[in-house]
Amino acid sequence: MLRRRSHSKVGSTAPSHEELLRLVEAAGTVADHSSLRPWRLIELRGDARDVLGAALAEAEGASAGGREKIIAKVRRAPLLIAIVAVYRPSGKVPHWEQEAVASGVAHALSLLLDEAGWGVLWRTGSQTRHDAVREAHRLKKNEQLLGWLYVGDVPGGGSGSDASKPLRRKLVDPADHLSSL
Ligand SMILES: Cc1cc2nc3c(=O)[nH]c(=O)nc-3n(C[C@H](O)[C@H](O)[C@H](O)COP(=O)(O)O)c2cc1C
Repeated sequence: MLRRRSHSKVGSTAPSHEELLRLVEAAGTVADHSSLRPWRLIELRGDARDVLGAALAEAEGASAGGREKIIAKVRRAPLLIAIVAVYRPSGKVPHWEQEAVASGVAHALSLLLDEAGWGVLWRTGSQTRHDAVREAHRLKKNEQLLGWLYVGDVPGGGSGSDASKPLRRKLVDPADHLSSL
């Protein structure tokens, strides 16, 4: 975890569906109040990424040239994993707790992918909750997008596979974040 970092530039190779299944199984072990499993993930590969690009362009009211740029941006990674919070009816577990679970799964999956040597960057944006973007993912009324993990290979190896790569990120001072009453 100390070595993990986001990778904004990744190559054209992505983990297979089968590899992803294994990692999602592990990520799904996060703590989950009442075990509601209030999340799902959507893989976007190949031309499916253009469905998202077109929806983002529509949401932004982009020109034809702008649309092409947005589509190219979405194509920066060979695999996008949409993170979806799925709100379950519960008198005990409010939506924020269910989002915490979905978010926890996404963080755990990021760590697992990083450890396996893949580059990951969690991306959001002002249009994440736009109707066009919701429709592109065929979200139901009780679902909310929390963004996308952009995933691909790291030229030269990811932090999981290349421990010798210098750490660019400053670590937090734990004393600033941990106090006592
Ligand atoms: C919920 C969430 C949303 C994020 N959205 C974006 C984003 O839209 N664009 C982006 O460049 N990075 C985004 N990030 C990644 C952060 O930029 C990144 O974690 C931060 O720059 C620190 O880098 P590090 O992860 O290597 O420590 C997001 C991260 C989280 C957890």
